[in-house]
Amino acid sequence: MRRILVAGNWKMNGSIESIKSLIDGVKQGMSGVKSTDVVVCPPAIYIPEVASLIEGTAIALGSQNICDQDSGAYTGEVAGSMLKEYGCKYAIVGHSERRSLYGESNELVAKRYAAARRAGLTPVLCVGELLEEREQGITEEVVGKQLDAVLELEGIASFADAVIAYEPVWAIGTGKTATPDQAQEVHAFIRKKLAGLDATIAENIVIQYGGSVKGSNAVELFGMQDIDGGLIGGAALDANEFLAICQAAN
Ligand code: 13P
Repeated sequence: MRRILVAGNWKMNGSIESIKSLIDGVKQGMSGVKSTDVVVCPPAIYIPEVASLIEGTAIALGSQNICDQDSGAYTGEVAGSMLKEYGCKYAIVGHSERRSLYGESNELVAKRYAAARRAGLTPVLCVGELLEEREQGITEEVVGKQLDAVLELEGIASFADAVIAYEPVWAIGTGKTATPDQAQEVHAFIRKKLAGLDATIAENIVIQYGGSVKGSNAVELFGMQDIDGGLIGGAALDANEFLAICQAAN
């Protein structure tokens, strides 16, 4: 039985003050969250602060990215061991903003995924197509290639301790959520592709949906057979909205 996993990707938002009140608000509502694993992914510089704010709670910590190398002359990067030192459990890799704004290729994303595993972090591998790719009918081809790069480097066994987040790029930050059926179709494709390599791993892997998830649409999305929670952007910056999403699986 897969557990629902809801992760807040705060992206480059917040201040010391605002993250304190956001975590405060989420903590206050956590008693109402049943059977959902909850994660927050702050900007890297706030990870130590958030780590201390969530101490002793059921909220887990994740990073928004991770260096593909373990240490050395990689200016501006953050190593997996550093994230681990501050209690991170998850590392997002291959978010579409990293892919499109910072030119991260499928191959580099696969290396970041491998680095997360070396550090003992669970990678949250983001995949998803652009609007024009969906319109061209090549969604499965695009998502398939994004998965293949990781499969080639790390193998199917690595997915036994990984999370996949399907985030159609056209649904991110646009208010245009994929319909539950549209999302389910791609989630089923991902699970089937993995099942071709290992049926048990495919059955157990958590596949989140991301893209304009809100309290008002989470129940319907998470109710789909192959959707196991969400990677939440904008709505994760509001404690009540984020909690409503976390409670959608109750
Ligand atoms: P929004 O929820 O703001 O659409 O962002 C989704 C996302 O990119 C999460 O990683």
